[in-house]
Amino acid sequence: MSVSRPAAVIVLAAGEGTRMKSRYPKVLHELCGRSMLGHVLDAAAELEPERTTVVVGHGREQVRDHLATVAPQVHTAVQAQQNGTGHAVRMAVEALREAGISLSGTVVLTYGDTPLLRGATLRELVAEHEAAGNAATVLSARVPDPSGYGRIVREDSGAVAAIVEHADADAGQRQIDEINSGMYAFDAAALTDVVHHLSTDNAKGEEYITDAVAILRDRGHRVGAFVAADWVEIQGVNDRAQLAEAWQYLNARLLRALMREGVTVVDPASTWVDVGVRVGPDTVLEPQTRLRGRTAVGAEARIGPGVTLRDTTVGDEATVVHAVTEQAQVASGASVGPYAYLRPGAVVAADAKIGTFVEVKNSTVGEGTKVPHLTYVGDADLGRGVNIGASSVFVNYDGVNKNRSQVGDHARTGSDNMFIAPVRVGEGAYTGAGAVIREDVPPGALGVSDGHRQRNIEGWVPRRRPGTAAAEAAQRAQEAEDGSSAADGRDAGGDQQ
Ligand code: UD1
Ligand code: CA
Repeated sequence: MSVSRPAAVIVLAAGEGTRMKSRYPKVLHELCGRSMLGHVLDAAAELEPERTTVVVGHGREQVRDHLATVAPQVHTAVQAQQNGTGHAVRMAVEALREAGISLSGTVVLTYGDTPLLRGATLRELVAEHEAAGNAATVLSARVPDPSGYGRIVREDSGAVAAIVEHADADAGQRQIDEINSGMYAFDAAALTDVVHHLSTDNAKGEEYITDAVAILRDRGHRVGAFVAADWVEIQGVNDRAQLAEAWQYLNARLLRALMREGVTVVDPASTWVDVGVRVGPDTVLEPQTRLRGRTAVGAEARIGPGVTLRDTTVGDEATVVHAVTEQAQVASGASVGPYAYLRPGAVVAADAKIGTFVEVKNSTVGEGTKVPHLTYVGDADLGRGVNIGASSVFVNYDGVNKNRSQVGDHARTGSDNMFIAPVRVGEGAYTGAGAVIREDVPPGALGVSDGHRQRNIEGWVPRRRPGTAAAEAAQRAQEAEDGSSAADGRDAGGDQQ
């Protein structure tokens, strides 16, 4: 299907969305990793329009900030008061004119709160519009319950005569089950003219864009309707319940696409993916799995049950079970979990193992290296073939600074080790159980630390960590103690009771 590039897409997003009961404008609410408005803009972008204008009103600063990050090429037009859909379109047309842009060709109108709309449907609308040589083509749909919607009124010949809003419709018109989706293709010249001729003589006292259809027809222009194949796709989201429904629908669509590409989804109802997530063939997504953001999983991997991956890459044949990851990389054949947490900058090389109750942050774990149990690896670089004993901590934080540590290839560290950063364990070195490693262990050496008798270095924190919350708390405790011993002194001297 060949369609021309539209001159503009205009997205209406000025409404308040009161039923969301939210501090945030409705169109900024997210599903499948993207705002509703973001989904609509993605669909519109498939038309490759010359320009896109979003009409903003309620919460316009928030909407503009959002657009600046997700779609900086998009323009905005302000509709300060919501005087109707026709008025909103007029604001867009006037903003474009003020910017010195004269539109010619096709202009597409959509809403910002219809996240299920597909680009393909807009393309079909434009194709139909251009093939028929219409001045206006409305995207319509046959729905099980048309109440609330504008109805498509047709003549006996089937030609579209008008759109009549529910509030303005008579009993007969309310029987019509073909509704107006609120999306249209217009001839630019016809649209830019007709928006100046919309009356407010209707039940709501607003300028209705829907009136453009009858006006253009009365002036002898050709108007038509294109019936969408799937009525769910054009539905708007007005409240949180509809948001959840739309989310589920969109998620199911994304999962179907993955399944068509050879991914096994054991339980689609409990598997959630964001737009843009990639998964390779013969990978199995087990129940309770959520893949978010820019996550990409290779082929023949096993993800889940109970996994959330965010902005994470997972290689072929890797396994991730009961884990949470964020901005992490897991190479092919590696195994993570059960009960692991990979934080930003965790890079797990091929065939490595991150086991049970293990947390890794801003660290590299070399090829074939194992961190099997109860361990924190923070700001460390572990070579290849390393084995880290159970219950160890890379003590990366001295309360003020974070330092890095290294463990060389094929080193084997004992259970219950503390690596006080910055410290280095050399290639092929061993460390004993319970060791506190404060000094570098040379390659091939055995690092042990005897169990020290505890000694307390008084006043160390205020002297060495001045200005920290810990130093201040210590000072307060000291002052309280000084004060109470002074009081004890007085009591001892004066109380006669
Ligand atoms: C509108 C259509 C109706 C259609 C329905 C589909 C009109 C007059 N009616 O009705 O035929 O069946 O959509 O959902 O067009 N908006 C603005 N500025 C405004 C008014 C609305 O930006 O001044 C935006 C809203 O944010 C919303 C969209 O336009 O996203 C639709 O507005 P709404 O008031 O919900 O229109 P409906 O009465 O549902
Ligand atoms: Ca609506």
